[in-house]
Amino acid sequence: MGRVVAVLNQKGGVGKTTITLGLASAAASAGQRVLVVDLDPQGSSTWVLGHDPTSLETTLAEVMGRTPTTRAMLPSAWGGEVWVVPSSPRLLSRDHGGNPARLRAALDEVVDQFHMVLIDCPPSLGSLTTSGLAAADHAVIVVEPSALSLRGIGAVADLVDEVWDAHNPDLELAGVVVNKVPGVSSEADRRYDELTRTVGKRAVWQPVVPHRVIVNQAIGERRPIHAYGSRSADVSEAFDRLWAKLRRVTKD
Ligand SMILES: Nc1ncnc2c1ncn2[C@@H]1O[C@H](COP(=O)(O)OP(=O)(O)OP(=O)(O)O)[C@@H](O)[C@H]1O
Ligand SMILES: [Mg+2]
Repeated sequence: MGRVVAVLNQKGGVGKTTITLGLASAAASAGQRVLVVDLDPQGSSTWVLGHDPTSLETTLAEVMGRTPTTRAMLPSAWGGEVWVVPSSPRLLSRDHGGNPARLRAALDEVVDQFHMVLIDCPPSLGSLTTSGLAAADHAVIVVEPSALSLRGIGAVADLVDEVWDAHNPDLELAGVVVNKVPGVSSEADRRYDELTRTVGKRAVWQPVVPHRVIVNQAIGERRPIHAYGSRSADVSEAFDRLWAKLRRVTKD
């Protein structure tokens, strides 16, 4: 139970931000409210959602230092359904130590206002990601079907276990989302099979998210993937189905 979801992997560039924002786009198109919590000092999701992480005074960094969440939270440029707790480069100083329970308390203040809270984690397994997991009810790991992406997945699963054990008995590993899947590739097929052998077939969510130029374009243009109509129809549909799955998982 609970609707706070951490999207993570210590590997950079696999699509944590893209998956978080694709789910937010699906939520908005279904008229449901989501809060994106940008836990990455790089501030990518903050930027895509219409805010400049380098010029904001009150951000997640201040919330981690006990500023009320409502003072940092902003509506996104995507419309009233999607809100963001923005990042700032100041968050970097919070990746070493700090109270892992603080973020959970901060999100408890606002979680009732949303159908889902999505935490976009940084590409590390440090204190920030630990805080994200301590605040979450469910963890979703994002991977690419490549050898290097799969190598690190054990360490991510171990951190989920550690945080469950030390800070958050409610935390569950919801599953693995496979992103950037090429149309035809025997290498990707082999990696997909390897993934299902490693984590179990049930843990790998369907559908996978295809590798498509329009996804990259939407991020660059700071627009929701659903804004591209027929040009993004297959990707938008994948996100709609993943969103529906996440809604089921968080209601159980
Ligand atoms: N399905 C996809 N098809 C095409 N491009 C994609 C897809 N998913 C992600 N990308 C592109 O890959 C790059 C990395 O994606 P993204 O920023 O979401 O990864 P990340 O895991 O959040 O990275 P970081 O570790 O830096 O936070 C971006 O340029 C994004 O547009
Ligand atoms: Mg990211």
